Amino acid sequence: MKPNQIKIQDVTLRDGNQALRKPWTLEEKIEVFDLLVELNVDGIEVGFPSSNETEFVASKTLAKRAPVGKPIAGLSRANETEIAKTWDAIQYANKPRMHIVFPVSDFSIRNVLKISEKEVIQKIQKSVSFARSIVGPEVEIQFSGEHFGDAIENFAFTKDAFLSAIEAGANIINLPNTVERYRPMVFVNMVKEISEFIGNKAKVSVHTHNDLGMATATSVECVYVGAEQIEVALNGLGERAGNTNLYETCIALHQNGETLGINFQRIYPTAKRIAEMTGIPIGEKTPIIGEDIFSHRSGIHQDGVAKTIKQSKGAYRTFSPEFVGRKDAETISFTNQSGHRAIQFLLENRGIFVPQTKVHQLFETAKSISSKENNREITEAELVELATGLVASL
Ligand code: KIV
Ligand code: ZN
Repeated sequence: MKPNQIKIQDVTLRDGNQALRKPWTLEEKIEVFDLLVELNVDGIEVGFPSSNETEFVASKTLAKRAPVGKPIAGLSRANETEIAKTWDAIQYANKPRMHIVFPVSDFSIRNVLKISEKEVIQKIQKSVSFARSIVGPEVEIQFSGEHFGDAIENFAFTKDAFLSAIEAGANIINLPNTVERYRPMVFVNMVKEISEFIGNKAKVSVHTHNDLGMATATSVECVYVGAEQIEVALNGLGERAGNTNLYETCIALHQNGETLGINFQRIYPTAKRIAEMTGIPIGEKTPIIGEDIFSHRSGIHQDGVAKTIKQSKGAYRTFSPEFVGRKDAETISFTNQSGHRAIQFLLENRGIFVPQTKVHQLFETAKSISSKENNREITEAELVELATGLVASL
């Protein structure tokens, strides 16, 4: 039950922006929007137009700027005033999408909304029908059941809530893991059940948060149980620990044979620019974009890397740096964990060929320098210097 092509819907400008210490200005939102267009995500949620004037103006500006055929969503709570305001902003897009959110979990209904389940259904029906009446028959309406991932206790009710949304005019049902609390499979099974329940009455989308660090895995698995759209964010921005990371999700799907429209080579430049704009640094070990993820320091790995460096599948590499637009390469560096292969590889890369017996000598020298100096890394330049001295003494 897998769609022909999974759609990547970006929510950086809405979920990402709402969680920033300093939300973006109009100019910054335009820059992020253009980055998303270059990256060629399938759709873009531009903001929460009814939340403040900046958001309204930015959403309207971006709607006007949108390429033909690209769904441009604006988020609204389930009330007529906000829905009308949202429509005022996004209607200028070539393909606007109204996105309405209302809680569905028992916990939220009882503790936050403090209304009955019947009132929840009425609110959903009324707001979605109102939206349908103003956007007309062609425009997509996405309904999100907030806290869906926490709705296992009132799952039967949740199904009814989604059916009501569809009957009132929604054509995309978005299933958020608003707060990640449980195992990925708990959520994936819930998504599966909703997909089967909805059938072809509406498209199923997932929107996960990364509170336990499993958002990518959860969203990727949902593709294989009926989700046709995944909501993601640049650099994993978003509330608290963020939303599903765009880069990880897209690379994981690509590695598993899925065809995406993403311009993969734009990933690294985009990630760097977003880090600059937000002041949120990229961790060295961050998948896909971290500075250290193509370095190999241990002997066993270095041997495998050296033997497969020119092959498309590397012994210790999932994808190449170039594929995601990085200018760096897989590197081998030398520490007290490294093997002879590292020395040979590094030197041969620089066109320096040292006899095998001397490689051993160099290895011992480099290792002893490293141990004496607090196990520090020996740079390529240092190895070259040591080798040059050795070759000159031959
Ligand atoms: O996390 C969430 O529930 C949301 C909804 C608006 C989709 O961001
Ligand atoms: Zn969210």
